[in-house]
Amino acid sequence: MLKISIFGIGYVGAVTAACISNDGFPVIAADVNPDKVAVLNEGRSPIVEPGLPELLRKGVENGLLSATTSCAEAIANSDLSIVCVGTPSRPSGDLDLSYVKAVAEEIGAALAQKDEFHSIVMRSTMLPGSMRTVVIPALEQASGKTAGVDFGIAYYPEFLREATAIHDYRDPAVIVLGAMDELTLERLRKINQRLTAQEFVVDVQTAEAIKYANNCCHAVKITFANEVGNIAQATGIDGHKVMAAVCADHRLNISPAYMKPGMAYGGSCLPKDLRALRYKARSMEIATPLLDAVAASNTNQISRAFDLIARSGKRKVGMLGLSFKAGTDDLRESPLVEIAERLYGKGFDVRIYDESVSYTALSGANLSYVRTHLPHLAGLLVDSLEDIGEHADILVVGNSDPNFQNVLQAARPDQLIVDFVRLDKDARTNGENYVGLCW
Ligand SMILES: NC(=O)c1ccc[n+]([C@@H]2O[C@H](COP(=O)([O-])OP(=O)(O)OC[C@H]3O[C@@H](n4cnc5c(N)ncnc54)[C@H](O)[C@@H]3O)[C@@H](O)[C@H]2O)c1
Repeated sequence: MLKISIFGIGYVGAVTAACISNDGFPVIAADVNPDKVAVLNEGRSPIVEPGLPELLRKGVENGLLSATTSCAEAIANSDLSIVCVGTPSRPSGDLDLSYVKAVAEEIGAALAQKDEFHSIVMRSTMLPGSMRTVVIPALEQASGKTAGVDFGIAYYPEFLREATAIHDYRDPAVIVLGAMDELTLERLRKINQRLTAQEFVVDVQTAEAIKYANNCCHAVKITFANEVGNIAQATGIDGHKVMAAVCADHRLNISPAYMKPGMAYGGSCLPKDLRALRYKARSMEIATPLLDAVAASNTNQISRAFDLIARSGKRKVGMLGLSFKAGTDDLRESPLVEIAERLYGKGFDVRIYDESVSYTALSGANLSYVRTHLPHLAGLLVDSLEDIGEHADILVVGNSDPNFQNVLQAARPDQLIVDFVRLDKDARTNGENYVGLCW
């Protein structure tokens, strides 16, 4: 039977110890705080969490759960360690990894005394890169061994919420495993054999990033609902009714829609409607810092996209797409129009292909808009993708028209591809001369 040690008997560690021991695995929990160790050895809970005292008592009574202050004892009596020590904020906002570093050094020293392959699984929340720059070096230095070879490494983020922690542990929405070696991955799967959640096996750094993306997403959701509620209340509307309908839309709202890193939003609705709601809030003296930041962030994304082109040093630009998304000729507030204008204004030699825009411009439907609003860009439109391919030193994929794929496939090796929408990340098999906007 796989034996587990758990470092840190706090909210995460106590719940993890209780659940794993009740799943039948022998668990030894380690903490530097002797009071927590004593409480757990008496079968009592060191924290308030519904259902936890019962599970801890059962674990101790069944002889599957015990606690110690000795790191060496915990390592010697287990095959896999789960580390759940605290990672508090520093006053600057940076993360304080001193507990993580200290526990890694202690575990490393204990690993030096152990011949068997031991797996170290970190569950403490840590910024991407912390495993590589802090945890692994501390373990390797103290043990004299090599991570992923002489001992196993994984980062396995914890998503439980206090007050529903046992339910969240037993029924997570997803499981994210960032393992460096197969044996550690296999061991984690054994511990999780009762869980039915979708599993994502990623590299260690991606696993660290997923935890932060999750928690920041939750914070943004709460703040968004609060700002909607504040505006609604001031207008005499029930914000709960508004958000209930918003959340019922599982196609566009509570869904993966709009959740891919890429180009700024644009078009005739989002920029206009965000502006109007912010104005309405301001007129009622309701602050909307989140909605304000959305507009600022979107502008920043357009600048970032422009800078990718401008910094390339190439002057002959072939833009694939002008409208804000494929399949429409609507140019109102298209971020690509903004980029094309900046390029034109700075003297770049630009050609633009957009099937929908060319079609309507040529057929007259959109011609007056292009003539009156974008006369300078009208002359840059070309009729065929081949024209773009021939002209460009730098190909800019602005929207996800699938026809652009052909241009990417036919691109010369010397042509730089700048992709705003991740149309084809593998267009360059060797990765050279391909730049993504946020990947
Ligand atoms: N609390 C949550 O809801 C939650 C959820 C998901 C992830 N997390 C993350 O999990 C980590 C732990 O959070 P927590 O709330 O359980 O922390 P906590 O402060 O409640 O517990 C941390 C425990 O680690 C112990 N500890 C410190 N150094 C040690 C060492 N060298 N050896 C053994 N034990 C040591 C402390 O004495 C303490 O008991 C944090 O990184 C946190 O961000 C927390």
